[in-house]
Amino acid sequence: MTHSPSEHSPAPAATRSHIDKPVVLVGLMGVGKSTIGRRLATRLGLPFIDSDDEIEKASGMTVGELFENYGEDYFRDGERRVIARLIDGAVKVIATGGGAFVQQETRELILKEAIAVWLDADIAVLTERVSRRNTRPLLRDTDPHMVLSELAEKRRPFYEQAQIHVRSNDGAHEETVERILEALAK
Ligand code: S3P
Repeated sequence: MTHSPSEHSPAPAATRSHIDKPVVLVGLMGVGKSTIGRRLATRLGLPFIDSDDEIEKASGMTVGELFENYGEDYFRDGERRVIARLIDGAVKVIATGGGAFVQQETRELILKEAIAVWLDADIAVLTERVSRRNTRPLLRDTDPHMVLSELAEKRRPFYEQAQIHVRSNDGAHEETVERILEALAK
């Protein structure tokens, strides 16, 4: 396999110096926010944080346990507080849970204090990707294709407000990272 010279090299300094706010990845479950976010952070030489991981650390429970024991509203409240804490002026890459940007307060904060990147893919691609992990409470004992289609329709008007929109369909994650870097450089 051949690699293009840029594949593993850091992003050009021009891109890095351009970024003066946290970069926040938003979008549906399974779109690759965490994987792509981690790679983007490496390319930019920035720290990476996953908001679901932070919620789990802060609560000492998994996202599934939080939903199960306390319900979705309680989880959303914790999610809002954790994201507000993470957006502290420092430049970094943050992957959010799929519902975070739907909450008005969180969305307004991200749009004001950060650069929102909406990662988007076809439902078939998302369905295939979520089937690899059984930890998402909203997809347990459901038809993931149906739930993801409904969520896509409901959430699209919110995700569309992100400053940057990048498709993350079948291609390698590295190609998506490349497209985000290009958009950030503009
Ligand atoms: C959710 C997405 C999940 C997690 C929780 C709820 C959602 O994160 O925050 O299960 O409402 O879409 P991922 O998008 O990282 O799977």
